[in-house]
Amino acid sequence: MPEPTDSIDDKREILFTYDQIQERVTELADEIKEDVDVNNLVLVGVLNGATFFATDLAKRFNNPNVKVDFISISSYGKKKESSKKPEIHCDLKNSIAEKDVVIVEDIIDTGYSMEILLDILQARRPKSLKVCTLLSKPERREVDVPIDYIGFTINNYWVEGYGLDSEEESRCFTNIVRRI
Ligand code: IMP
Ligand code: MG
Repeated sequence: MPEPTDSIDDKREILFTYDQIQERVTELADEIKEDVDVNNLVLVGVLNGATFFATDLAKRFNNPNVKVDFISISSYGKKKESSKKPEIHCDLKNSIAEKDVVIVEDIIDTGYSMEILLDILQARRPKSLKVCTLLSKPERREVDVPIDYIGFTINNYWVEGYGLDSEEESRCFTNIVRRI
């Protein structure tokens, strides 16, 4: 494993270490286990940012019936100002009808992406639909989206690492860092 300080330089500082993230991921999985029927659970990771988080979270269930799937949608920013329909770049492999679905996202910022995703997935008639995000920036919220599980609430920082990117860079840092 890289050293914990590998992802910091004069432009970045560590916000959450890999160990802190792993501890929180275990707690989030325990919360989900309390609420949903794990034997009917589908974790839907949002590509690409949530892949690291979704795979770590999935491992906490250690259950043959828990499914993991992934989706990627285009985001046009403010939904109501956009005439374009959101485009699904990569769709789920399997149906989620009658499944207990938990969307697994890296970060909820303005909330527009999650609002669109909830519309798309709700239309597929899951038994239940919940939202789990590793990070939430409530200061930036423009639409009110329901969030069932939050890893960490953060101030209005630009963050990178553990899946989160800046124009595809810095995604593979072990820690979550913030730009300073
Ligand atoms: P929203 O639609 O504004 O909530 O945007 C959510 C998406 O914006 C996330 O899925 C991220 O891809 C991206 N995003 C928002 N804030 C950050 C950040 O601080 N670092 C990296 N990506 C971010
Ligand atoms: Mg994202």
